[in-house]
Amino acid sequence: MPIKMTDEEFTTFQKLIYDETGISLANGKKDLLISRLARRFIDLNVGSFSEYYKVVRNDHKEFMELVDRVSTHMTEFFREQPHFDFFESRFVKEMEKNSLKTGRRKITVWSVACSSGEEPYSIAMSILETLAVPVNWEIKILASDISNGVLEQAKNGLYTGDRMKDIPKYLWNKYFLKGTGENAGNYKVKDFMRDIMIFRRFNLLDSQWPIRGGFDAIFCRNVLIYFDKEMQADVVRKLCGYLRDGGYLFLGHSETFVGGATGYPTVIPSVFKKPESE
Ligand SMILES: C[S@@+](CC[C@H](N)C(=O)[O-])C[C@H]1O[C@@H](n2cnc3c(N)ncnc32)[C@H](O)[C@@H]1O
Repeated sequence: MPIKMTDEEFTTFQKLIYDETGISLANGKKDLLISRLARRFIDLNVGSFSEYYKVVRNDHKEFMELVDRVSTHMTEFFREQPHFDFFESRFVKEMEKNSLKTGRRKITVWSVACSSGEEPYSIAMSILETLAVPVNWEIKILASDISNGVLEQAKNGLYTGDRMKDIPKYLWNKYFLKGTGENAGNYKVKDFMRDIMIFRRFNLLDSQWPIRGGFDAIFCRNVLIYFDKEMQADVVRKLCGYLRDGGYLFLGHSETFVGGATGYPTVIPSVFKKPESE
């Protein structure tokens, strides 16, 4: 029998999801919530949304299952290419130039809502392809997301041939192993690139994150769009505190308007530079 959801139940779920994750489920998303949970109700032998509400309130793991089902994880390698063009031609080059003065050969980047890993691995490939002598550098990329499901995929670094289409062909062999046997048609991130990554589960709504700041660049793309205005500005201001002076904040192209909350100048559309200290 199809599951039914009253308007009151939907409002309760909207509020729960909003309070815990910042994701605003639009009023028209009731059918989507029902369809995404239909299978789960069968697995858990749950018959109604009121019953399921009690389950998620008492079981954090199940709450995370719910978050996984309602959030959008759409991503791709080298998404929003102009960001990567800028990242390579300006950011990495600037890091190299500064290293001649300071002797610091370290790059730290945070991919804040990394989904299944395409974004942080694209960042890694951009850095490794642009630095003249990458082995002389310490490169660290923090990749975080609220969803355990996508973080597991990111850690695994296994992608179907279809996902690989956005990566220039000449990079495939350099950074990925071609699957054989039951993995034929899939590609796995090579260990040396995976070793650059640190994966963590963070909720952007947490008041602070248990990490040290001072990142050279932060990518927070295509996640703020799901939050309301106040929350967007809050998250952006918090992230600014984790950026070093002179560091760059990358927002999604459709999130450019949130950049105003940084108070920083725009360097290219949706990329902001924290001023150098006096
Ligand atoms: C559409 S994907 C964007 C992925 C990548 N940044 C990109 O631009 O391709 C949005 C990601 O944000 C994550 N997310 C949603 N709410 C979050 C929150 N409150 N804290 C951390 N991550 C969140 C989702 O799990 C999802 O993987």
